[in-house]
Amino acid sequence: MSRLRVLVILAGLIALLAGCAEAAPTPRPTELVPTPAPGPTLNPAGDAAHGAALFVRWQCASCHGGNAGGGIGPSLAGTTISQAAFTAAVRQTRPPKPAFSEAELSESDVRDIYVWLQGLEPAAQTITLEEGQLLGIQVYTSSGCDSCHGAFAQGGTAPALAGYSADVDAFLEAMRSTTADVPEHDLEALGIDLMRRLYTWLKEGANLASGC
Ligand code: HEC
Ligand code: HEC
Repeated sequence: MSRLRVLVILAGLIALLAGCAEAAPTPRPTELVPTPAPGPTLNPAGDAAHGAALFVRWQCASCHGGNAGGGIGPSLAGTTISQAAFTAAVRQTRPPKPAFSEAELSESDVRDIYVWLQGLEPAAQTITLEEGQLLGIQVYTSSGCDSCHGAFAQGGTAPALAGYSADVDAFLEAMRSTTADVPEHDLEALGIDLMRRLYTWLKEGANLASGC
């Protein structure tokens, strides 16, 4: 191949790449900042697109399926339960489902999710999560840790535990030493083996951004 030909091909490639770079959409920053509280101008009908985004961001999709067609949790697509029943379920711990507090999902956030779900075609499918991940969140929610430390241990009224960096003995000792103030930390009642499992999940798996 002549040198000139190589140069022509190279110039063509560069032009192509430049074109691609121009055409590529600017990536949006991951939306991890909570949406501001709704003002009086809020659309009373709800914002389905916002609901769809929240469904992914708060990991509902990990358990209920990407399009809410079902997975570890039941299908929610085309839900026929009332908005009040839906909100009550969102606020409750139903292991492995964590409780979502008002600080995590406001009333209008929950309404937006509900409105989005209502507009979906009813569907039913099964998906499976990685075993270790489910076990971790199952122990976490069954033990009620979510009500204080946040749905995914990201922190709530109690400190964040996700990505816990101290060793397992320090973790267990932190719980023992606070049992007088926080009875839910009673290791005798919880079972030390399960708490060791939970520790591993907190250290490696509990991450709001990467899944439950
Ligand atoms: C770790 C898995 C998991 C996550 C995350 C999760 N869910 Fe669930 N969800 C479940 C399971 C399992 C059930 C069924 C529990 C039961 O009824 O005992 C359930 C039940 C529900 C129900 C009750 C349905 C009914 O018909 O009674 C609603 C509503 C719901 N989830 C909404 C949500 C929303 C909204 C999110 C995200 C903000 C979410 N869930 C996140 C697993 C999960
Ligand atoms: C009723 C609320 C509540 C519940 C439920 C709860 N905790 Fe806590 N937790 C706290 C508070 C408050 C602190 C901070 C205590 C302190 O520093 O004195 C804490 C601290 C901790 C710490 C030490 C954190 C650190 O930074 O060293 C660990 C570990 C912990 N909790 C684990 C758990 C686990 C695991 C569960 C579930 C079995 C759980 N907690 C349930 C309120 C709670």
